Amino acid sequence: MDNASKSKLIMLGEKINNRLTELVDVSNPLTREVSDVAVYSLKAGGKRIRPILMQQFYSMCSGNEGEELLDLFCTIELIHTFSLIHDDLPCMDNDDFRRGKPSCHKAYPEAIALLAGDQLNTLPFEIISKSAIDGVISYETSVKLAFCLSNAVGVSGMIGGQVIDMMSEGKEIPLDILNELQAKKTGALISAACEMGCILADADEETISKARDYAQKLGRAFQIKDDILDVTGSFEELGKPIGSDKEQSKSTYVSLFGLDEASRICEQLTNEAVEIIADFDNNDFIVQLTESLLERRN
Ligand code: IPE
Ligand code: IPE
Ligand code: MG
Ligand code: MG
Ligand code: MG
Repeated sequence: MDNASKSKLIMLGEKINNRLTELVDVSNPLTREVSDVAVYSLKAGGKRIRPILMQQFYSMCSGNEGEELLDLFCTIELIHTFSLIHDDLPCMDNDDFRRGKPSCHKAYPEAIALLAGDQLNTLPFEIISKSAIDGVISYETSVKLAFCLSNAVGVSGMIGGQVIDMMSEGKEIPLDILNELQAKKTGALISAACEMGCILADADEETISKARDYAQKLGRAFQIKDDILDVTGSFEELGKPIGSDKEQSKSTYVSLFGLDEASRICEQLTNEAVEIIADFDNNDFIVQLTESLLERRN
């Protein structure tokens, strides 16, 4: 990544970080505990890839930065953080650290962590509908956003992927099932991020379809890299436990193909993703971002 893109990545990340925690209602002392827990997980860090992708697709399609749409860009990160809180629970991956800090259920009672996740799952839909009520976006756009996001979270998206992930523990699953698992558990939210950016810019169907194709490639590359880092990374770099997949007998590209072949496939998918967005205007930053994810160490 060149210096201009690095600065842009930091600037976008800071804007998202500053706004994210303000979105959680901490005004009622009676319910404050669950809101504080949601803020704890949001503040713990994270790369903020999904809201940055949404902002970039909006920007490429509209030619604007979308300062007034920041809350909407944050919606996908709220959902992602909810998915991580639940993913770490003892009944799921049972991981004690996330983003360099004790997992939500380790820092707070498990029931509160569960509810904080639930809170972060519903807040985005409040933000989307309120944005239409306040005239920031049209009612039509808000319906399209809510449909896209709910579909990506639900059983045909991330939640479905998590179910297949759990059902596949301890088994050798065929490649087509592994691809479906990853397309759903990781690809769906990444795809929604890109698609929602296009929807906000009122982009045409052809553009949206390209955004989805790009996101499916990136989503697979991203999860394969996550699986590789689970083996080759360190706790200090990742901020989450390494070796978690093996411990839980997960099916991954690494367990199926080994490290070298998984890395080769990850690189190939990244190249294919970049090719799909080659003809987008002002794609310089997103091309560099996509390529940098291949080299990421966290
Ligand atoms: C981790 O996502 C979970 C996956 C879907 C692979 P990220 O790698 O984006 O996690 P954060 O947000 O940076 O912590
Ligand atoms: C996460 O997959 C998918 C989610 C929907 C959260 P992982 O279980 O591999 O993610 P990490 O490695 O815990 O971040
Ligand atoms: Mg998991
Ligand atoms: Mg996990
Ligand atoms: Mg993982």
